[in-house]
Amino acid sequence: MLEINEIHTYYGQSHILFDVSLKIKKGQVVCLLGRNGAGKTATLKSVMGLAPPKRGTIRFKGEDITGRQAYQLARKGIGYVPDDRRIFADLTVGENLEIAANKKRADGEWNKARLYDFFPALEKMDTRKGGLLSGGEQKILAIARALMGNPEFILLDEPTEGIAPLLVDHIAEKILKLKQTGLTVLLAEQNVKFTLSLSDYGYIIDNGRICHQGSVQELTEDEEIRKTCGI
Ligand SMILES: Nc1ncnc2c1ncn2[C@@H]1O[C@H](COP(=O)(O)OP(=O)(O)O)[C@@H](O)[C@H]1O
Ligand SMILES: [Mg+2]
Repeated sequence: MLEINEIHTYYGQSHILFDVSLKIKKGQVVCLLGRNGAGKTATLKSVMGLAPPKRGTIRFKGEDITGRQAYQLARKGIGYVPDDRRIFADLTVGENLEIAANKKRADGEWNKARLYDFFPALEKMDTRKGGLLSGGEQKILAIARALMGNPEFILLDEPTEGIAPLLVDHIAEKILKLKQTGLTVLLAEQNVKFTLSLSDYGYIIDNGRICHQGSVQELTEDEEIRKTCGI
């Protein structure tokens, strides 16, 4: 479904990603593990057209999408949950969802009512302003907002960062349910246990380079590999 091929990405003059390649098959949850500053967000931004790579290619369902803009990718069925959530603080939860609807993909399975069934906590906060939500609630709203676009594939940037353990379990459960609906996921995380419990295959990134890739079993059992790659 998604194929990243030997990309090099820069932030201004700084060379951030070196020769990063990864592959995600339809229906899989693939993780990109790495410590803080390893290059996870840069990889997701490279896919989403927010930090287009200077070299290398990105293909979505066979089509070269390298450097396409985020709104074009959303129309093609790519959802993005940024690490900083970008909730509209002055809009209510309901309004945050409504403005995320994608007219080009309106016939998909998600709409506000279905998302409120899926995340009952959000329904209770329908009229609350986004800025008044806790960090964890904002994470869930950010996921729901991405689903409003009815994506086939979603980029999730550190959904568990800074949230309470109970909520981490809740999010894990939701990601597994989304996988059962056929959604394909690239999950960038530092939380090894959470991430490997959900994934079908994994990559570890360090210093802007893919340090290792392997099965979930290998990444779970081989502490040495994880240590070498800084996670
Ligand atoms: N705006 C920026 N300008 C220059 N360098 C940046 C900027 N943001 C992040 N970096 C650097 O890019 C590297 C990769 O960062 P990032 O992809 O955000 O890592 P991660 O998401 O894995 O924590 C880090 O070394 C970080 O210091
Ligand atoms: Mg990051």
